[in-house]
Amino acid sequence: MKTATLGHANRLAARTQRLRASTIREILKVTQQPDVISFAGGLPAPELFPRQELADAAARILADPVNGPNSLQYSVTEGHPPLRAWVAKRLHDVWGVEISPDDVLVTGGSQQGLDLIGKVFLDPGDTVVLENPSYLGAIQAFDAYQAEYLTVATDALGMVPDSLERALRTAPHPPKLVYLVPNFGNPTGVTLAAERRETIVRICERFDVPLAEDDPYGELRYEGRHFTPLIAHPTTGTIIYLGTNSKICAPGLRVAWMVCRDPAVRERIVPAKQAADLHTNTFCQYLITEYVRDDAAFTAHVEAIKNCYRERRDAMREAMRAHMPDDVRYNEPSGGLFFWATVERPNFDTEALLHEVAERRRVAFVPGRAFFPHRDVKNTMRLNFSNMPPERIHEGIKRLADGLRIA
Ligand SMILES: Cc1ncc(COP(=O)(O)O)c(C=O)c1O
Repeated sequence: MKTATLGHANRLAARTQRLRASTIREILKVTQQPDVISFAGGLPAPELFPRQELADAAARILADPVNGPNSLQYSVTEGHPPLRAWVAKRLHDVWGVEISPDDVLVTGGSQQGLDLIGKVFLDPGDTVVLENPSYLGAIQAFDAYQAEYLTVATDALGMVPDSLERALRTAPHPPKLVYLVPNFGNPTGVTLAAERRETIVRICERFDVPLAEDDPYGELRYEGRHFTPLIAHPTTGTIIYLGTNSKICAPGLRVAWMVCRDPAVRERIVPAKQAADLHTNTFCQYLITEYVRDDAAFTAHVEAIKNCYRERRDAMREAMRAHMPDDVRYNEPSGGLFFWATVERPNFDTEALLHEVAERRRVAFVPGRAFFPHRDVKNTMRLNFSNMPPERIHEGIKRLADGLRIA
């Protein structure tokens, strides 16, 4: 008798073909053992999570006869109105951006914002223009909508406007979206120069292509001044700005926001989100709203995060300068969570290096290949510094450098 085939993998939708668990994630599971110094995740420092303040805020909400029950109830898809109003005010206070609370949609992490952008803009085969390398989670989100990628050159000042213009002019089909991370990008730590920002907005306007500005790290600047976000520049085009609570409060709450001034686009995003989850977790939206009500305490909290990460960034910079072989080139970021290093040796493969150093030297990082939309660059790596105290950073970089020297 013929054995029945197990399951229905042959019935899966074509769009699932690019949705595969990453082999790197499998390696990185090993690196969660306590003796491994891991620079792999993009994790905030858990000791900075405002646990007591959130516990107090939760108690106040639940004890309140109106907010208590409402915070546990179904809610509106666009988001909790006081939270939308806070986002509009914070964008104004920090960045000088004028928006209305109606322009704000609360999402389940910025990751959901990226998925919704894919859902409303991308048909199979549509082109997304990206930096090279780009945030892996964005590539994964757009992969699910069967996007094709057109990469644009990036230098120490971020996306190169001439390269963007050339890509848009010579693309075989008009691209549907330009995606970029303007501040302390993931993975490169690079910030888009102030003088390039308006130019990029104008190019997108001229070629009639929407722009997605993903900004989870903007507030985490350790020196120098903030640059104006792209969404601050008036344009007849569409800019969708993504911000998140993940790096300034707690990522496990999964609360973020997308800002879109274009009502015709918002009208499509809202039902797309409704179909996915009805609305973002009501209680967490109330919790954050209540937590940030004490503006001075919240500002002090963000300062404490910056002070801690600045010290860790300095520790990684010192360790890199002291230990890295001369043929390893790296950036020195003034914000965010990452160093990005390139090993300048012919055919060098950081995935092989990870196998070696994770096993033998108990240190881990993320090989850079997955951040390149065409997976064609093998000699880079991303190193996170936010999740580890300075002594461990020194020790880990020394172990990695020793591994690199004999690789
Ligand atoms: C560039 C970028 N976008 C989006 C996200 C996702 O953020 P969230 O936790 O809000 O989903 C991250 C997380 O690391 C990121 O680096």
